[in-house]
Amino acid sequence: MKNAKLFLIAASVLAVMATGANAGPREDIIANFTAQGAGAPNPAAGQAMYNANYATGKPDTPKCQSCHGATPQDSGETRTGKHIDPMAVSKTPDRYTDPEKVDKWFLRNCQGVIGRECTAQEKVDFISFMMTQ
Ligand code: HEC
Repeated sequence: MKNAKLFLIAASVLAVMATGANAGPREDIIANFTAQGAGAPNPAAGQAMYNANYATGKPDTPKCQSCHGATPQDSGETRTGKHIDPMAVSKTPDRYTDPEKVDKWFLRNCQGVIGRECTAQEKVDFISFMMTQ
């Protein structure tokens, strides 16, 4: 009887955790970009962004990979040699969960690499790709 009760408690905790995974801060951030006009997430477009050689921003940072790793699973480094944790959610689970951080770095990095702000669609594509990594 006691075991059955414990099992029920464990099961409901797991259920709450599973629901949380579907409606967490990352999903809220994506929903916010959708409200700003983004359509369905396109992870393949996000992958292309990560690998693209834009060369339309600052000359020393033509790509996202100029600072982030060669793959999303790799660590990166700033121009001054400061370590950057991998961008893949599987490697750095708290990625894309703080809206202020996400906004700040998309703004700074899109301007530095592409020479303009990223669109809401690009942000959704990029994050959705990293969620598959
Ligand atoms: C000049 C170096 C540099 C380049 C180039 C760069 N980034 Fe970053 N990026 C950083 C740093 C530093 C951080 C903050 C440290 C961290 O999150 O580990 C960061 C963080 C981010 C974050 C926030 C991640 C989170 O956890 O919320 C996003 C999103 C991001 N970058 C997207 C991009 C995209 C997209 C590109 C290419 C268009 C790019 N970055 C290119 C240095 C760079």
